[in-house]
Amino acid sequence: MKTYRSFSSTETERLGYDFGRKILRKKPKASAIILGLQGALGSGKTVFAKGLFRALGVRARILSPTFLLIKSYELKKKNFKQAYHFDCYRIKNEKELRLLGAKEILAAKENLVLIEWADRLKSLRGGKNVIKVKLYHGLKSNERIIKIPNFLSR
Ligand SMILES: Nc1ncnc2c1ncn2[C@@H]1O[C@H](COP(=O)(O)OP(=O)(O)O)[C@@H](O)[C@H]1O
Ligand SMILES: [Mg+2]
Repeated sequence: MKTYRSFSSTETERLGYDFGRKILRKKPKASAIILGLQGALGSGKTVFAKGLFRALGVRARILSPTFLLIKSYELKKKNFKQAYHFDCYRIKNEKELRLLGAKEILAAKENLVLIEWADRLKSLRGGKNVIKVKLYHGLKSNERIIKIPNFLSR
């Protein structure tokens, strides 16, 4: 993991953006690209997601799908046709996740899936194919520590 320190939401959004650009350059895989964001409330998961989706060309306003649980955006990229934004905060268990169609979404290789609160569900927390991004509050109120796997960091 590579560790970044951010002192503003702009900086965190920028990290998400850069990360998104890297992902666009990755070779397609057999299943969806899955990004599991782990971090406490207010640690910046949605801010990071905004930057990332922006890099994928999503123009819509990005809000956390807290009550919708899953949102999707059409992409016009060579390797990706659809982006999904999951918020697992209110998804109670694996069964509920399945009922939302997660299995199919995660299996399709033309999908890019970003998951907030990925640590709340075992299959997402432990999944080998889940790229983990960890966010923490720092000591200062605007400080965030963000850990990104080496193979995708700048
Ligand atoms: N360095 C920073 N990075 C990200 N967000 C920050 C930072 N400093 C302050 N904030 C604020 O923290 C909040 C993060 O919210 P959000 O991204 O919705 O968190 P989460 O989705 O993890 O619950 C926002 O209100 C944002 O303005
Ligand atoms: Mg959020």
